[in-house]
Amino acid sequence: MTQNKILITGAHGQVGSVLYSELSKKYGKDNIVASDIKEMPSADVFELLDVTDIEAMNAVVKKHSITEIYHLAAILSAKGEQDPLWTWELNLQGLFNVLEASRNNQVEKIFFPSSIAVFGHKSKLIVAPQASITDPTTVYGMSKVAGEYWCQYYHNKYGLDIRSIRYPGVIGYQSMAGGGTTDYAVEIFQYVLDKKEYSCFLEKDTRLPMIFMEDAIRATFEIMEAPIENINIRTSYNISGINFTPEELVQEIQVHHPDFKCTYLPDFRQQIAESWPQKIDDTEAMVDWGWKPSYDLPKMVSSMFENLPKKKLAPIQL
Ligand SMILES: NC(=O)c1ccc[n+]([C@@H]2O[C@H](COP(=O)([O-])OP(=O)(O)OC[C@H]3O[C@@H](n4cnc5c(N)ncnc54)[C@H](O)[C@@H]3O)[C@@H](O)[C@H]2O)c1
Repeated sequence: MTQNKILITGAHGQVGSVLYSELSKKYGKDNIVASDIKEMPSADVFELLDVTDIEAMNAVVKKHSITEIYHLAAILSAKGEQDPLWTWELNLQGLFNVLEASRNNQVEKIFFPSSIAVFGHKSKLIVAPQASITDPTTVYGMSKVAGEYWCQYYHNKYGLDIRSIRYPGVIGYQSMAGGGTTDYAVEIFQYVLDKKEYSCFLEKDTRLPMIFMEDAIRATFEIMEAPIENINIRTSYNISGINFTPEELVQEIQVHHPDFKCTYLPDFRQQIAESWPQKIDDTEAMVDWGWKPSYDLPKMVSSMFENLPKKKLAPIQL
């Protein structure tokens, strides 16, 4: 069996940096090519790669004889609203370049993360089913809906094996969130430790689907390793982790830090959050490739406090 050579785009980001270290443990650092527009000194093999540059993308794929791509580079929901046209360009052109470079260079497998941002007011059911209407309110959500269909199209037309999951808001202690609407649930932990108080940019009763980083990475590995005949959805699979409101998160944090206080000062992100479902139905992912989340809210909060103090995270920059 030949060794996989894996390219990660956006490897410097919240999810990409964790995926890089977990893939390195699995396949060896020499077999993982990290790429981003930001330098990444922790990576042994790194390429400064702008995903909107098709020639550079082709060159990197050829140079390292890449067999798998994890395409994470994107602009997320909240940050995307500050420059909608560039968000569309980066998120879609970046994906086209990955798809074309894969098609032309015999890349065997691709991972494309979609998002709960594909849902909108018309799909806003308490629990969003797999086949819900997708009517996103953000340019980020629009780019993910379009991206999902392009993935399906390249699979049907060219046989590319592209696999995708709709991540809920990802929460982890390893890296700071990168400009999404669920970022408060990462940022709040640093404030618990540093300042003992936090001003949340969402209302206290805004329930959203979330997932702990360990579960998100495990889901990514499980879908990528599933037998091809089990992958029946070629747009993107719903996956569920936890769901909670800011107030419920604060109550669980107070179990560990009773003196912690949170105030609520909603900004433009509240409107985005209100267009998203509260929970996700992930029956198809469970049936097709055995998905099952393992972190509930108390377990996640305990793990955050066990691991977070070891590393100080930089604040979110929109
Ligand atoms: N974090 C979440 O909660 C979440 C939820 C749903 C989906 N996702 C998806 O997962 C993926 C990773 O998200 P993340 O939270 O790590 O994002 P992030 O914002 O933390 O990281 C994105 C990375 O992409 C890089 N990048 C930006 N422009 C680039 C370009 N032109 N070329 C190459 N790299 C570029 C950035 O430097 C950054 O390191 C994204 O596709 C995102 O849509 C994330």
